[in-house]
Amino acid sequence: MRLKRLLPALMLLSTTPALAEKSPASLKKDPELWVTLGTDTVESVRESFRSVGWEEPTQELVKGEATMFRVRESQLEKLATLMHEKFNRCAGFMTYETRDEAIASLTPAPALATQNLVTYTLDNAATATALMSSMTEANVRSTITLLAGYTTRYYTSTTGVNAVNALRSKWQGFIPAGRTDASVALFTHAAWAQPSVIFTIRGSTLPDEVVVVGGHLDSISSGSTAPGADDNASGIASFTEVIRVAMLRNYRPQRTVKFIGYAAEEVGLRGSKEIAAWHKNNGINVVGVLQLDMTNYKGSSVDAAIITDYTNAAQNTFLRNIITTRAGYTHTNSTCGYACSDHASWTNQGFAASIPHEATVSAGNRYIHTSSDTLTNSGGTANHALKFARIAASYVAELAKGTAQ
Ligand code: BES
Ligand code: ZN
Repeated sequence: MRLKRLLPALMLLSTTPALAEKSPASLKKDPELWVTLGTDTVESVRESFRSVGWEEPTQELVKGEATMFRVRESQLEKLATLMHEKFNRCAGFMTYETRDEAIASLTPAPALATQNLVTYTLDNAATATALMSSMTEANVRSTITLLAGYTTRYYTSTTGVNAVNALRSKWQGFIPAGRTDASVALFTHAAWAQPSVIFTIRGSTLPDEVVVVGGHLDSISSGSTAPGADDNASGIASFTEVIRVAMLRNYRPQRTVKFIGYAAEEVGLRGSKEIAAWHKNNGINVVGVLQLDMTNYKGSSVDAAIITDYTNAAQNTFLRNIITTRAGYTHTNSTCGYACSDHASWTNQGFAASIPHEATVSAGNRYIHTSSDTLTNSGGTANHALKFARIAASYVAELAKGTAQ
């Protein structure tokens, strides 16, 4: 079924000259990129490129379980589909704009010298409760509906840019007149059209210590539309509700809080990779990162699954306490087995990141990356995503501390 849909494009591609013969102008439009992926996927990658009449990608380096390939930007979508369909999400890939960056990524970064050791304490129940009590399912649902209403949020599409602008306006609308410590900004990416978007609340007493809550806003699909209602309008909707109540209840954190909608996750964590690198390169002390990616499909009996790989064990323990003690929900552990979402970009730069997921990975939403990733297919309400809004609010209240009214 997929192949049929791809055929017209493939026929076109197979009649284009070999990469080396392309003119400089077309090379610029479709630049070379480097991807790293699991060595066990190499044969399938070769075979899938051959099957659509493409030259096999150049395999540049094998380092243990990771392999580095040189590909064209236009080939990323096919690679993402292969990884999802053939490996059943059991193999992701990371994308790099230079060969050196890709090579460097194969050696994990040491812990940041600038990063303070943070003490995890649970003593801000009043603030957490104030924020949680103002949250509603209808508000969470409205953000899912808004984002899933775009035909696609693919990182190079016009609608993918329009969706970010709509989200930015929604966030801007939450800031009361006269509040000068809260702002919204776009983070533009040089290599593609879709920006990331960042809502910042400046810390009152520790403004140089930063707490990040984020999720990806792009979508991808093997079908004709990419609603991405669960992957990942849901995660964005969960923390959009945190932003709304933070403004409504006049929340004043001691540490700076940044809420980030990342561009271009579905094509190799590209947006978050640039943002995490920017924070590291600018010596910013990010004390904790919470990732929300897929929060609305209740596939397990527990409320949340804590992903234990590519995350920080100490912060995961803190998160479990928050889920049980503050938010009052149940949890279990799960693993992706690869760098499955933006938390891995922060982990790779030496920051402490965690990701509470909607279900154990094996029991998650099977409709993702298809035209059927709709709100209806996540149960038709945002009840499950609302729990993650409450978990994220408690995380912010306990890690960034501060008061709400
Ligand atoms: N939301 C998924 C990741 C995910 C899927 C997490 C299932 C937990 C359970 C994410 O948007 C995604 O699709 N990631 C890619 C890898 C990425 C590096 C391109 C994947 O899983 O194939
Ligand atoms: Zn995805």
